[in-house]
Amino acid sequence: MATVVVGGSACGEIGSNLAKLLKAKYFRIEKKDFPDGEFVVKVPFDAKGNDVIIVQSTYAPQDRHIMELIFIADALKDMHAKSITAVVPYLAYMRQDKRFLNGQVVSSHMIMRLLNAAGIGRLVTVQPHKEKPLSLFKGRVDSIMPIRALMKRVSHELSDPYVLAPDIGGLELAKTAAKILGCGYTHLDKERDPLTGIPEIKNKPHERFDGKQVVIVDDMVSTGTTIMLASRFAYSRGAVEVVTAAVHLVMADGARHRLMQAGVTRVYGTDTIPAKNAVIVDISSEIAAVFGKKRKR
Ligand code: R5P
Repeated sequence: MATVVVGGSACGEIGSNLAKLLKAKYFRIEKKDFPDGEFVVKVPFDAKGNDVIIVQSTYAPQDRHIMELIFIADALKDMHAKSITAVVPYLAYMRQDKRFLNGQVVSSHMIMRLLNAAGIGRLVTVQPHKEKPLSLFKGRVDSIMPIRALMKRVSHELSDPYVLAPDIGGLELAKTAAKILGCGYTHLDKERDPLTGIPEIKNKPHERFDGKQVVIVDDMVSTGTTIMLASRFAYSRGAVEVVTAAVHLVMADGARHRLMQAGVTRVYGTDTIPAKNAVIVDISSEIAAVFGKKRKR
């Protein structure tokens, strides 16, 4: 009986790093693509009686990565693994945490049911957009908040920071970030048009950022529109520099361009999603900590 880590095709370095930290055996899943676009996975070890940890992020293409995760879990269930834990550094579909318009699916709820149906008994994820959908998962759930690791990195490179959350949802993140950086913080009020999804800043705070390096913190950068609006606001109030630190660098089409246009000089993120032209912080040791291993920092 042993703990074995198996990395899916979207696990990045987290799979092997986690295995090292847990002193567990590590395997990469075998995956075969078919000409019609379908694929099959093969678990390359005897899982019977083992505690198996699957590491698979679910960034784009989200659906393929989710299917791969549940296929791996189902194969492990068939092989009589003793327990199946999924470490999903970026958990997709969490933003649809309610029915915003009549007739819509509540995607995050369906994802929870899917994970359970595949035999996953424990879920570990990082900074989910909302915690509430996780309560539908039947089994233990750990959500890791890597803001400390992210801010430690930011603090090495900024001398006079000020933290800005682009919306009220980011306020707790901003408070924690400011505490770590030893600086002030404030937040904007953002509202999205329910039909178009386009965000707009509503109430602007009174603060000025003269001479400050403004750090915009958020759980994710997707289209970059939110950060773009916040960055323009920060410069309009006297910031000398604007950087952004977000846990998940989703970086949908055009995001990089929007950030550059808005004067964001640096992008900090974690390795939950691979990203280019960004300062990336490895969070394997934060993940290992939920399995009882001490952080190396
Ligand atoms: C929204 O509530 C989130 O915290 C992010 O602000 C948002 O998802 C970022 O999206 P985008 O980059 O497309 O503006």
